[in-house]
Amino acid sequence: MPAVVQIDEIHKIYESGEVPVHAVRGVTLTIESGDFVAVMGASGSGKSTLMNLLGCLDRPSKGRYLLDGIDVSRLDRNQLADIRNQKLGFVFQGFNLLARTTARENVELPMLYGRRRYSSREMHERAMKSLELVGLGARADHFPSQLSGGQQQRVAIARALINDPQVLLADEPTGNLDSRTSVEVMDVFQKLNEQGITIVMVTHELDIAHYCKRNLIMRDGRLVSDHHVEHRLIATEELRKLHAAEAAAKLTA
Ligand SMILES: Nc1ncnc2c1ncn2[C@@H]1O[C@H](COP(=O)(O)OP(=O)(O)OP(=O)(O)O)[C@@H](O)[C@H]1O
Ligand SMILES: [Mg+2]
Repeated sequence: MPAVVQIDEIHKIYESGEVPVHAVRGVTLTIESGDFVAVMGASGSGKSTLMNLLGCLDRPSKGRYLLDGIDVSRLDRNQLADIRNQKLGFVFQGFNLLARTTARENVELPMLYGRRRYSSREMHERAMKSLELVGLGARADHFPSQLSGGQQQRVAIARALINDPQVLLADEPTGNLDSRTSVEVMDVFQKLNEQGITIVMVTHELDIAHYCKRNLIMRDGRLVSDHHVEHRLIATEELRKLHAAEAAAKLTA
C-alpha cells in the first residue's frame, strides 16, 4: 500500500507580489495511513502553505507530490477539485459554517457540490451519521449561533467527514477555542484517527500537539524536526481529570 502522502523536495514560491516569497523550501515528507501529525513552527514559517499544498488547494512550484499514489503535481484545477472531494476533508480555525443554515444542512453542503448526486433523503441520512460520529446527533436542527464554539467546530468536522475522506487536514482547528474545548476537539480527532482516518493538523500549542502521534516543526519554509510523540496525551483521560477536578472544586466551594 502506498503512503497516503509522499512529497519530494517540494517548493512553493509566491510570485504575486513585487518580491517573490519562497514560503516552502524543499520539504520531503512521508505520511503513512493512520498517522496523526501536528505541524508546528513560528508564524510565517510556511505551515499553512504546506497544508494548502497537501490539500491540493495550491500546486507546488517545484517538486513532486503523490497523494495515495497519485501524482497530483501535474493535475489541472478540475482534477485537483475531484481529488479533494474524494480523498480529503478540511477543518479551519474559523469553523466556516453558514449562519442561517442548520448544523445538518451545513454538513450536507459538500454533497451538493460533489460529482455524485444524492437524493435529499440520502443526504439527510449521511449528514445525521456524520453528526452522530462527532456526538452532535441531538443538535442537528440547531443553527451555528445556538451552538458553543466547540460544537460549531464539531459540526465543521462532521462536514469534513461527509465524503469519507482518507485524510483530514486541519489548520489551527483549536485556535479559536478555550483549552477545555480544545481537548474535546482533540478527543473527536483521536477517535476518528482510531477508526483509521489520517490526520494532519497545524497548531501553535505544544500541549495540543501532544495529543498527536507525530510532531513536525517548520522554520523558514523547511522541516527542521520530525519526531514521534512519547507518552502522548489521551483526550478522554484528560477530560475525565478535568471533570474530577471540577467536581472536587465544587465540593470545597
Ligand atoms: N498568497 C500569498 N502570497 C504571497 N505570500 C504569501 C501568501 N501566503 C503566504 N505568504 C507568505 O509565505 C510565508 C509563509 O506563510 P504561511 O501562511 O504559510 O505561514 P504560517 O506558518 O501558516 O504562519 P501563521 O502561523 O501566522 O499562520 C509568509 O512569509 C507569508 O507572508
Ligand atoms: Mg497559518
